[in-house]
Amino acid sequence: FKSTPANIVIFGGFGDLAWRKLIPAFYNLYISGYLPEKFAIYGVHYQGLPEGAYEKHMLEGVNLFSRRGKAKAAEWKKFTDHLYFFQGDFTIDETYTRLKATLDENDKKWKTRATRLLYYSVAPSFIEVISNSVSKHNIAAQREKDRIVVEKPFGTDLASAKGLNDLLNKLFYENQIYRIDHYLGKEVVQNISAFRFANYIFEPLWNSKFIDQVQISVTESVSVGTRGSYYDKSGALRDMVQNHLLQLLSLVAMECPGNYDAEDIRKQKVKVLKKVRPFTTATAIQDVVRAQYTRGEVKGKEQPGYKEETNVARNSTTETYVAMKVWIDNPRWKGVPFYLRTGKSLEKQSSVIVVQFKDSPHKIFKDDVVPNRLVISIQPEQKISLLFEGKVPGLEMKLKPLEMDFSYHDSFIEEAPEAYETLLLDALEGDATQFIRADQVETAWSIVMPILNAWSKEKGDMKKYKAGSWGPKEAEDLIKEGRIKWLMLPES
Ligand code: BG6
Repeated sequence: FKSTPANIVIFGGFGDLAWRKLIPAFYNLYISGYLPEKFAIYGVHYQGLPEGAYEKHMLEGVNLFSRRGKAKAAEWKKFTDHLYFFQGDFTIDETYTRLKATLDENDKKWKTRATRLLYYSVAPSFIEVISNSVSKHNIAAQREKDRIVVEKPFGTDLASAKGLNDLLNKLFYENQIYRIDHYLGKEVVQNISAFRFANYIFEPLWNSKFIDQVQISVTESVSVGTRGSYYDKSGALRDMVQNHLLQLLSLVAMECPGNYDAEDIRKQKVKVLKKVRPFTTATAIQDVVRAQYTRGEVKGKEQPGYKEETNVARNSTTETYVAMKVWIDNPRWKGVPFYLRTGKSLEKQSSVIVVQFKDSPHKIFKDDVVPNRLVISIQPEQKISLLFEGKVPGLEMKLKPLEMDFSYHDSFIEEAPEAYETLLLDALEGDATQFIRADQVETAWSIVMPILNAWSKEKGDMKKYKAGSWGPKEAEDLIKEGRIKWLMLPES
């Protein structure tokens, strides 16, 4: 792979994502020696910039957001020999004629047809014109070498996602389309498959006979901040549940794939998503809580209410929090509820999966025994813990819940890469395992559609929670019927 040159084009190359995530990720891959010897990155942006302004802005992004901290001057200088600003309006042909000529020129110089990675880091409204133009100008015409990475949001509902898939599948082959969900690039998320399928001891327990419930929580302390105009049209269900949370659910719930490869894994993920019990109008209201934050305090700082945020409608009915109960109708998960929740402006950032095991049917101790629990912490802590009962040292048989911990920090000297580093390298190498196939994205939309439809009829059921809290009381009520509360780390 390292000997195969690569032409990388970022449409929206001057945008926020390129600044915060993509260029820092490419830079880290470069300094760690993962990029091919011959490569070029073009950041496409409609307006012209003064000489050197692009590199300067991108360096600022690396310095601010790279996990490795500030770039070293000499390394950055070498990287910029491969980094180009490309002024071009997405909507006119001339941009693509010039772009193609530039890429072809590199191929000639490198004496081989390079891999082409085209990254759509643009507002969804540009995808059509860019795709049509890329296809018309034969920029991604080599099925095995040319890849298109599409950022979320992938549609705003099932119909628009289907429309987008139809468009892309008309112009390109499905194996050229890399729909990105950055949660799948997170180190601990990638470890879920290893944990489940490389450790034979857990798989026999991974079913309704032993598991009482599963909780998937992605709580954020950040507010919508500057993203009001996007977020107010989206909301937590579209922004987080349809993609990230349902991807986590499919990793926890899927059957073992035949092989660890893109086709087998994605087949199993779709299969389990298709078994999610469809919401009805009644269950969409009963089993799903939606809420909006009101003024409060997050980490000691005053936080305005959602409706006071910039670019948010003052009478907005967009949810910033969702908690829901999901059933999977297959033999493995019969009767096991999956509780999902996510929200903004909450007390703490925490992405955690909790597998709560059943209570032992056989009681021989006089102390209460706490059922076993497996906690997979994705962020900010990266660890997997197993809660079990043990004897307290002493003359009596006294029990206590204990924690067996595996933490990345203590177990590895290797630093975990950023999700985007992993995913960009996978896309360059042509490995689509951690990307979303057309049918996955549509199945995920099918799950949330009845909820969106029910909400559009039932305007009145928006709940409130104070910024800085753990969310609305109704989400606690939803989980109480599962006999336990929302669980975080074992001690909580
Ligand atoms: C994005 C959402 O996909 O994921 C954001 O659009 C959210 O609203 C973000 O904040 C969360 O990602 P992470 O990696 O910070 O947990």
